[in-house]
Amino acid sequence: MKKICIVGTGYVGLPLAAGFANVGNEVTCLDLDEAKITDLKNGKIPIYEPGLEDLIKRNQKNFNFTTDVQQSIQNNDIIFICVGTPSCTDGSADLQYVLSVAESIGKYMNSCKIVVDKSTVPIGTADLVEETIKKQLLERKVHHNFHVVSNPEFMREGCAVEDVLHPDRVVIGTNDIPTGLTLKRLYEPFVLNGNPIIITDVRSAEMIKYASNCFLATKISFINEMANICEKVGANILEVRKGMAADHRIGDKFLYASIAWGGSCFGKDCNALLNISRNISEESLIVNATIQTNESRPKRFVDTMLSYLLPDQVTIWGTAFKPETDDIRDSASIKVIKLLLEHGIKVNVHDPMALENTKKIFGDNISYCESQYESLLKSDCLLLCTEWSVYRMPNWGLMKKLMFQHYIFDGRNQYDLKTVQEQGFNYISIGREPIKI
Ligand code: UDX
Ligand code: UDX
Repeated sequence: MKKICIVGTGYVGLPLAAGFANVGNEVTCLDLDEAKITDLKNGKIPIYEPGLEDLIKRNQKNFNFTTDVQQSIQNNDIIFICVGTPSCTDGSADLQYVLSVAESIGKYMNSCKIVVDKSTVPIGTADLVEETIKKQLLERKVHHNFHVVSNPEFMREGCAVEDVLHPDRVVIGTNDIPTGLTLKRLYEPFVLNGNPIIITDVRSAEMIKYASNCFLATKISFINEMANICEKVGANILEVRKGMAADHRIGDKFLYASIAWGGSCFGKDCNALLNISRNISEESLIVNATIQTNESRPKRFVDTMLSYLLPDQVTIWGTAFKPETDDIRDSASIKVIKLLLEHGIKVNVHDPMALENTKKIFGDNISYCESQYESLLKSDCLLLCTEWSVYRMPNWGLMKKLMFQHYIFDGRNQYDLKTVQEQGFNYISIGREPIKI
């Protein structure tokens, strides 16, 4: 059993805390946001993440939710920094929250601590965190040992709990052997299946996170460019994917052509790595192209629709950046809605989990529907932006009755071409031949 403090109860901090509590550790969750902490104390989970609520409830006795910074730092041996690292206007990562946690640690620590950077941060941040803590200790004229570790997260939203409980790998970046061993022990219960715990130097660990996320984003941008070509040469991207994926060197993951990739990580991390590479005169042309390709896609999707019809009203299915989350950060769907509004088109939206967050952006400018079918009433076309499973086998007959015109633009290739043709819809998907009735 270890005493752990997790700073930041967001999409990363909470699943991580739940995982540690579940294997018997005592976990303090610290957040500046009092409303969040009050909710958590009352058993209300501030985000939607499958399995999270259940895991937290089952391990309630191992949790302490608090806004008390001093107590949290003094009472715990290992402190995980899981606060946000948003993008600055130049693309670099904004480290103010990470460094303010470091400052608090230096201000209050009273014994040896292990400080873990879990948030995705630029290479060299662990050194900055160390300097910030040292500065505070110097001001206080006290000496305490501490070690700063880089331990990047690889959690996918929508399956973050699963990714914490059964990680593909754990990366621990430290220059101190005993610290590496302590963290290895902490993670061992999650890799009884033999998946690796990689102990490496701090900077390599920081770089592993950026290289991994940028590579995954590049895979998707690549397949999306192949989809553009398929559309022009009459090939089918799903067949192309199948043929490529059968080669073990390529693999079948992250090769689904789509409206665009989104979420809080890929865009932020690609921009941060690009910024880092430019600052050291080693610009990553590939990461740059990955971003450019992705940024062009929401407009391409809307332009494609406009090349078929000028609708009065459009229905959007899915505003979350991917299924099984209520998170709309950097969601392609949100970008599409903004473009539609610029064209003066009326927008109805449906999403199983993300409507509340969507309302925070668009207020009364669009209509929100609890029922996926109600959202289609009097619409000229449907834009499918997020592949929630409830959209997989729709009631075609009902859709036909409710819609004014029968157009579907599918940003996630959810339907079989023959089926939609038989059902009498115009169907335009990604990287496949359009169906016109
Ligand atoms: C994380 C990581 O921080 C980011 O680096 C990674 O790449 C992706 O996800 P996430 O958990 O998604 O961020 O952020 P968010 O949901 O915004 O949660 C951050 C939490 O930290 C919030 O609850 C916020 O109130 C809290 N916070 C922020 C603090 O407690 N202290 C601060 O100084 C700042
Ligand atoms: C990502 C990383 O996968 C995870 O390891 C990291 O720690 C955090 O960032 P996340 O942002 O939660 O996770 O989602 P992910 O599943 O990677 O999807 C990102 C985006 O890519 C989504 O918008 C998704 O719809 C899109 N995507 C994914 C595709 O368009 N095609 C694919 O084949 C896969």
